[in-house]
Formats: sequence, structure tokens, C-alpha cells
Amino acid sequence: MRKIAIIGGTGIDNPKTLQGFEKRVIETPYGKALCNIGMMSGNQVIFVSRHGVDHSVPPHKVNYRANIWAIKSLGTEEVFATTAVGSINPEMKAGHFVVCDNVLDFTKSRISTFYDSPERGVAHCDFTYPYCPALREKVIKCLEKTDITFHKQGVYVCTEGPRFESAAEIKMYAMLGGDLVGMTNMPESILAREAELCYTNCSIVTNMAAGISPTPLSHSEVCEAMAQSIDNMQKLILAFIAYDEPVEAKCGCHSCMKEFGGFKL
Ligand code: HPA
Repeated sequence: MRKIAIIGGTGIDNPKTLQGFEKRVIETPYGKALCNIGMMSGNQVIFVSRHGVDHSVPPHKVNYRANIWAIKSLGTEEVFATTAVGSINPEMKAGHFVVCDNVLDFTKSRISTFYDSPERGVAHCDFTYPYCPALREKVIKCLEKTDITFHKQGVYVCTEGPRFESAAEIKMYAMLGGDLVGMTNMPESILAREAELCYTNCSIVTNMAAGISPTPLSHSEVCEAMAQSIDNMQKLILAFIAYDEPVEAKCGCHSCMKEFGGFKL
């Protein structure tokens, strides 16, 4: 049996998907995390609402540490995270899915480590390749069996938000090698790595980024585009949960904090 967490937003964790699931509030040293726990395709699955019960927590205020801690404390091994993104890369268009392979972190105010207390001491986690190669392979194999247009690679630029970017910022991110821009993948991905979890991200392009889009950006445009991709994302998540074939890629996610005595809850 695999133990899988899905971190996502509205629509992914709809009542139909969650039939027979138990809603639980998990207490962590960082606060509460809201989870729906159940079984699907013979695997234990936890849906975590990144933005809280009614999608009310903005990206810069998400309790990333509580969410990852809760996932870890439930014995989860695999984390599949979904995010909405704007596209900087003209090849990546609205409705496309991108299995990101690297990240540029431009967040400013978020606590991005579990290692900030005297008890835990100092630790420097390797983050050369932020996403688990084995999970990325699983997601790509699942996508290959669908008719969803997707990209196997992409550099995710994480901004602080909650505002959208300026045109000049997007130009800069393009020069730095960014393909996509979003507000939630950091510090989520580094916290998952510190917690020695396998973590991968699949981003849904909802709009062209500021200055590339011919019109000013709006939240409703993002929500509408997201709504159009929900069926595809649900299809992918169900396929990912049911996936039972071996993968070639090997990962060291479960021992990446070995140098510091391993991650302890
Ligand atoms: N910028 C930042 N975050 C986003 C965007 C964007 O253009 N679209 C969806 N999430």
C-alpha cells in the first residue's frame, strides 16, 4: 500500500472524490492542518487543502509548515502538489500541464525551514533538484496515457504575492530561465524535502504572465481557467493514485537529512 498526499486547491478535493473520506484537523507544533483521509485504489490518500477550509488563506499566509508536518506525521511517503501558474514561456499555454523540474525562489516573508530552533540545530538541505525524480516519472507516465497537453520540464518562479507581477519582473524572470510563475511552491517544496518526503509538482497554466498577456491579469481569469482544467487534474490525480508500475528513476528523498541525523517529528 502506498501512502499518498495530494496538496491542492478548490475543486480537486470535491465531495464526489472524497466519498468515504474522514475530515480531520491535525494539530502540529505550527498550528492546525485540514486533511481528508481515506482509501483509493487500495492506497491511503490524504487530501490537504493548501488554502484552508474555504480557500480563505492567501499564498503568503499559508501555513506550509503545518501542512507538511501533518502529512509527515500521518506516515505519508509521496506528495503530489498542484498549483495554478502564469506562463512566461510562449510554448506553455493556458490549459497545459507542466511537471516542473526546478524552481527559482523570490518569496520574501515566509518561514522556509523546520531548522530554525536550538533543538533542531543548523541544517543545510541539498536542493539541487527540488522535486523527486521517481514521482516526476510517475506523473509523466500517467500524463502520457491521457490526452492532456503537458510539458515534462519547467522552471517554476515562486513570487511572494498576493499581487501579480509587473511586466518588468516577468522580463527579468524570463532572462533568469523561468518558465512559469506562481505563488505557492515555496517553501512547500523545501519543507517537504527537509521532512524527507518524496514531493512533486504539477502546475496548470491558467494565463500568460503579466506583460505577455495582452490584457491586465485578474483573479477571475485565473479561477475560470482553473475551473476548465479541473476535470483533467482530477483525471491525473486518480491515475497517479492508482499507478502501480515500477519506475526507473531512483531517489534519495527519504535520507536527504542523513547528515543531520535524519528528520525527526
Ligand atoms: N502570477 C502568479 N501566480 C499566478 C499567476 C500569475 O500570473 N497565474 C496563476 N497563479
